[in-house]
Amino acid sequence: MHAETVLTPANLIWPLFVTEGEEEDPIAALPGVSRWGLKGIVARAREARDLGIPCLALFPNTPRELRTEDGREALNPDNLMCRAIKAIKDAVPDIGVLTDVALDPYTAHGHDGIVDAQGYVLNDETSAVLVDQALLQAEAGSDIVAPSDMMDGRVGAIRGALEANGHVNVQIMAYAAKYASGFYGPFRDAVGSRGLLKGDKKTYQMDPANAEEALREVALDIAEGADSVMVKPGLPYLDIILRVKSEFQVPVFAYQVSGEYAMIEAAAAVGAGDRETLVLETLMAFRRAGCSGVLTYHAPLAAKLLG
Ligand code: PBG
Repeated sequence: MHAETVLTPANLIWPLFVTEGEEEDPIAALPGVSRWGLKGIVARAREARDLGIPCLALFPNTPRELRTEDGREALNPDNLMCRAIKAIKDAVPDIGVLTDVALDPYTAHGHDGIVDAQGYVLNDETSAVLVDQALLQAEAGSDIVAPSDMMDGRVGAIRGALEANGHVNVQIMAYAAKYASGFYGPFRDAVGSRGLLKGDKKTYQMDPANAEEALREVALDIAEGADSVMVKPGLPYLDIILRVKSEFQVPVFAYQVSGEYAMIEAAAAVGAGDRETLVLETLMAFRRAGCSGVLTYHAPLAAKLLG
């Protein structure tokens, strides 16, 4: 009766990896998580709906031969991502679909944008491509486009293009405070970019030393038209979540990222903690800190436990 915070399946967003082919493709770095073909992805969408999870977040594992310097496969209307969005929306129209806007699953160098000869990611050139990528996803049926690239000015540019093209109800969830983190390793395996990535992402993702910069990033994204903002990774950045929520009173989401998932699984595997307790405790911590919801690979397990 005295609990100040509640956690329900409605607070969960389930990130899913899409791949070509129909075989379930387990991801070694993320025990219990697989890449799915279109049939499998639709089955996961039904599962999510039945568990009361309101939204899926989709990430494509683009075939190696389609990855190029400029990531042009991101703009192919028939790419894996667009086919997955359509398949889900056809079969399970009442599930929300959130799509990642960034070039890393499509580039041969694994960066989120277009790079110059020195490998430096170019802000404005990248932003222009992201606008087209977001439009394509909206066209395919995405409910929420989520730019995860950390370029400056892309939220405003995407909002303008969505309005101009009739997608007035498509939301933007801005990865507003995304840190250059060591916790993304298993994700890069999952989308096949780990071996390809040249250098690091520190020229566009944030320094873990900074909190005030996170508030400036969030302020910009809200001013440009973001409907919600994200802090990422999750657990090491609960202070940022609390400060963003206190300062702006907008819907804030956390991404409990792949390395955090792997850490809980590793702890559970050696008996250092009980899996179910760790999952629900960490998710409750995000809610307590001010999150409207959490992107977590544990979403189906948590929803079952909460259901
Ligand atoms: C890149 C992107 C990343 C994640 C989501 N989108 C990785 C990165 O920035 O290198 C990480 C998610 C996770 O680790 O679960 N656009």
